[in-house]
Amino acid sequence: MKLIAVSDEEELSRMAAEILFAKVKASDRLVLGLATGKTPLGMYRFLTKYSKECKQSFKHIHTVNLDEYVGSVTYHTYMEQYLFQHVDIPSDQTHLPDGLAASLEDECKKYEQLIKKLGGIDLQVLGIGENGHIGFNEPGTKFDSRTHVVQLTDSTLQANAKYFAGIEQPKEAITMGIGTILESKEILLLAIGERKANAVKELFNGSLNKDIPATALNQHLNVTVLADKGARKLLDKES
Ligand code: PGA
Repeated sequence: MKLIAVSDEEELSRMAAEILFAKVKASDRLVLGLATGKTPLGMYRFLTKYSKECKQSFKHIHTVNLDEYVGSVTYHTYMEQYLFQHVDIPSDQTHLPDGLAASLEDECKKYEQLIKKLGGIDLQVLGIGENGHIGFNEPGTKFDSRTHVVQLTDSTLQANAKYFAGIEQPKEAITMGIGTILESKEILLLAIGERKANAVKELFNGSLNKDIPATALNQHLNVTVLADKGARKLLDKES
């Protein structure tokens, strides 16, 4: 696992966007796995800026997002707002799990088939939860899990309550499984702030611990972690 140490959120966002943008420019066709939450917001801002400045087309890009709340379009709306409406990516090439699907079980199967049909994910962007979750794979999730419905933990509900001021917060979500994520050809994990320091420390201690889902990434051969000063606070040494 490669660690790129950056000073702060601004530098992290710029570097993450540069990594994605270089791939967008270099490829004829690219399947990007995308994440939501607070962490990648700056990355999307820079990605939008670079694409405008360089007049770079996104017509050859396909996207698959990690997750969506059940009964909600929260992350669909987020992706429109922060990326899709700013680039020329065709809407039928952008994909998120459908939290409004009549059968959630069928939706999970369909999402797996979709990723296969696209030829797999070339680069998956991940955030990390305070409890070490990736996507919405909460502690205890099997490392070979596929796309599934999860009951969100109190820690995750609390961390995300700010997005649901005045409206009821869904307690369930659909998420790509850890096994699904591990099949991505390359993974870029972003960690900002001291709140993530413990999860980042566990990730770099090299073990495989089901109670810290992100440690599953120690099985993957092509993972880059971009972490700011706060998120690296508990690391003994920097590689
Ligand atoms: P955050 O969430 O970016 O809002 O901190 C990250 C995550 O839970 O994966």
